[in-house]
Amino acid sequence: SKSEPLKVMISGAPASGKGTQCELIYGLVHISTGDLLRAEVSSGTEIGNKAKEFMNSGKLIPDEIVTAMVTARLSRQDAKEKGWLLDGYPRSFAQARSLEELNVRPDIYIVLDVPDEILIDRCVGRRLDPVTGRIYHVKNFPPESDEIKARLVTRSDDTEEKVKSRLEVYKQNAAAISSTYTSITNKLDGNRPKEVVFKDIDSLLSQVQKDKTAKLAKP
Ligand code: AP5
Repeated sequence: SKSEPLKVMISGAPASGKGTQCELIYGLVHISTGDLLRAEVSSGTEIGNKAKEFMNSGKLIPDEIVTAMVTARLSRQDAKEKGWLLDGYPRSFAQARSLEELNVRPDIYIVLDVPDEILIDRCVGRRLDPVTGRIYHVKNFPPESDEIKARLVTRSDDTEEKVKSRLEVYKQNAAAISSTYTSITNKLDGNRPKEVVFKDIDSLLSQVQKDKTAKLAKP
């Protein structure tokens, strides 16, 4: 039977676990604006040089820069064929509008809900593996070996002070963005073990895929 690829948005405050869940979701093309921007910064591109200061101070990069980056990525063949998992976009009402105008709508909008005090601890303890791109945490998810441990890096925006301003930015924008996706929103408790959160996401995605296939099969 024919099946339409899934289109998924995952949202939530800084360190709510978006990237961690996306590591567990297979088959869809993972598009993380934070990862794309960090790659631009480390290769010293024009976009990267523009983005650096904003990211370092926990502010949003101007909409037009991020929107151009995302729409270019979404229009590539793999995203069209396999479906996509958009992580960290839209982050403002204007970004949500841009996608609507391009007729880019997700099948489901997942929001991970985690209390503020836990978010701060998660950010401050986060470590990244520059070789594999995997996300670790000094207490919650320590690295598997000393070799990995030795190469882990800390994000420059993961200090307590910067996390607080990122959280403020998130809160200022959250309501306006979610109003665009009310009818397809699923809010999940993100303050549970990652496997438990993933189980919920996995069954939500299966259900949405089933509904899509059923709709398609209708004469
Ligand atoms: P971005 O990289 O998107 O940062 P963010 O939204 O702040 O999200 P994080 O990456 O911090 O968190 P996450 O939810 O992925 O959590 P993770 O899984 O890593 O953006 C960075 C910057 O780029 C922005 O500030 C902005 O400047 C710019 N930018 C990006 N997109 C933009 C846009 N659209 N427009 C404009 N500017 C944009 O987990 C966090 C930690 O918690 C890890 O250590 C992890 O191991 C641990 N953890 C995860 N899940 C659990 C769990 N269930 N239990 C215990 N610990 C857990």
